Amino acid sequence: MGKIYAVILAGGKGERLWPATLALPKPLLPFGGNGRTLIKATYDRVLPLVGEGNVYLVATRELAELLGAELGLHREQLILEPFGKNTAPAVGLAALVLGELDPAGTMLILPADHRIDDEEAFRRALLAAVKAAEEGYLVTLGIRPTYPATGYGYIEGAEPLFEAEGYVVHRAARFVEKPDHSLAEEYLARGNFFWNSGIFVWKFSRILEEIHRHLPGLAAALAELKSHLGKPTWEAALREAYSRAEETSIDYGVMEKAEKIATIPVSFGWSDLGDWHAIWEVLRRDREDNASVDVEVYGKDATGNLVFSLTPKRVGLLGVEDLAVVDTPEALLVGKRELAQRVREIARGFAEREPDWPELYKLDRNGMLGVMERFPEQCREALARGREVVFPRELSGFERIVVVGMGGSGITGDLLGLAFPEMEVITVRNYVVPRFIGEETLLVGVSYSGNTEETLAAFLDGLKRTKKALGISSGGKLAEICQKQGIPWIEIPKGFQPRAALGHLLFTLLGALEGLGLRAEGMDEGLSILSRMAGELSPRSTPNRAQGLARALQGKVPVIYGAAGTTRPIAFRWRTQINENAKQPAFSAELPELCHNEIVGYELAGGLLPQIIRLFLRTSHDHPRVALRVEVLKEVLRRRRLSFLELHGEGETPLAQALSLLYLGDWVSVYLALLNGVDPTPVEPIAELKERLARESWEPWR
Ligand code: F6R
Repeated sequence: MGKIYAVILAGGKGERLWPATLALPKPLLPFGGNGRTLIKATYDRVLPLVGEGNVYLVATRELAELLGAELGLHREQLILEPFGKNTAPAVGLAALVLGELDPAGTMLILPADHRIDDEEAFRRALLAAVKAAEEGYLVTLGIRPTYPATGYGYIEGAEPLFEAEGYVVHRAARFVEKPDHSLAEEYLARGNFFWNSGIFVWKFSRILEEIHRHLPGLAAALAELKSHLGKPTWEAALREAYSRAEETSIDYGVMEKAEKIATIPVSFGWSDLGDWHAIWEVLRRDREDNASVDVEVYGKDATGNLVFSLTPKRVGLLGVEDLAVVDTPEALLVGKRELAQRVREIARGFAEREPDWPELYKLDRNGMLGVMERFPEQCREALARGREVVFPRELSGFERIVVVGMGGSGITGDLLGLAFPEMEVITVRNYVVPRFIGEETLLVGVSYSGNTEETLAAFLDGLKRTKKALGISSGGKLAEICQKQGIPWIEIPKGFQPRAALGHLLFTLLGALEGLGLRAEGMDEGLSILSRMAGELSPRSTPNRAQGLARALQGKVPVIYGAAGTTRPIAFRWRTQINENAKQPAFSAELPELCHNEIVGYELAGGLLPQIIRLFLRTSHDHPRVALRVEVLKEVLRRRRLSFLELHGEGETPLAQALSLLYLGDWVSVYLALLNGVDPTPVEPIAELKERLARESWEPWR
């Protein structure tokens, strides 16, 4: 006799639990009783039966990692689907993987998000089902109906087979689809019709046999997959197998047609918590029949209401009855509890409401979208221009580069640092340069306008310490200073916003520095990725990924996380681009440093700043311990129900990966500007500040 394995299936969109399921997948909602999430309750109630190592979870990677972290499962306990394809492929996959470990084993299939009142009775019913499974039956727990429900499928029970654990196991005559009301009434009256609980028990071998008989696509896919078990080819083979498998439920695909099926009628207090009404029903209610979770409710002449908020809140109810009020940082639902089934219509309505992008493009009066789209060309043109530059020989032989520059120009220094990992590159965003620099330093003054006072002052300060210097600008005082002092100056085209001229600044320098023996690895790769992305992310491909991300950041305060040595400056660029283009607050922070301070601030983050959304920028070149820290941080965030996104650089080289993330962020910031109803180009507060300072004449360059 093999062992018993619990397999928790976690799919389903939980659309009827909108808007809570926008923020959290349904199994993580806190309706499991005693403050637990639904999945934790599911896990706890089956644990005494199967033991810790024998609970498995089937879900797509992201969801599995999220739920696995909640339960503290090991990686081996997560059975990852490449994408969701209803329950039959999920069950088949689990049976294949676990059946290989223990061919004589029995599996319990458990939905991740149901509520059960009498857990002891539930476990006894499962034990009875295991007995039937050992006789070769496919068993379903059948819930004795308490009202003529039209929202569930039914199982018709036939003659009793045997008794076990105080339950009677019946042969199941048939599975039937959700009935209309009059049929449901008939089923209720007949007494031998039970709700299909979605809780199944069978031997691995038996379910695989029935899959073979009734789902030939899935069966063939599983047979092919078998030879890839435990091999590096597994993921690719699984993807292929899933695309071949029938997309169907185990109920419809197998149980409705299978031989030797049994059901055990149970009444241990069950709910699938499908909608807000069902949730209201299972929650403890006050004398006025109001139920609430995580909120402090004060009601006057208010009865029968459900109030739930993802962030602690006081809610006053005045003279309202039978409402569902559900609050999340992103959305608010106010509806009649009895119409809870129809919440799906609202969820879908919002999901389908794509912004009217062509209309929004009209906000881009100064043509930022066009500049963005031509960015790869800008970089190519700049590289060619830079390669033409001939520097005097005296410039070579430096050991360090100090770039002075502010804002959109200053970022050039950070990116040069990424491009030349063997060279020390320091970016100075100040009026003065560090005292330690001397003749071994190449000083690079970068100011798009050529008129930024901090940059000019620091450049002059630096010139007192080293003669190895060059300037790059579209003109302005920087050009004058260079020309007057006989310092090489590189001219780039006028007419851009400085931050939108990054290609000109960076790639001209990359090209020019080749003449001094510095060659950046990954430029070609980076440029070809940028060209591809321009096609994918431009308004011509609407809707696209950058637009989706912009929608995720709208109304939020993004905090962008970069890793020291790789994505730190890219996170900073995301932040400044969101600030300047989208006119929206955003912040950036760096790993590993934030593990020593910022994470402590998570403790109260959800309550104080529910609008914060964290965004991890990652590359394959991040330090392995930093990568591990990100994984741990993600778990911490999940446990605290704090939202985050994760983005990976494209390509192989560090430069290409950094550029791809940077370019994506630039697009996101521009689309975010449009969603915010603003023209991305103007940056009036910057201009105002510059003007105000110019009035207090201060001209160290004279
Ligand atoms: C505006 C922008 C700013 C400027 C900054 C310095 O588009 O990006 O951050 O870059 O004010 O000005 P410049 O680049 O002219 O030295």
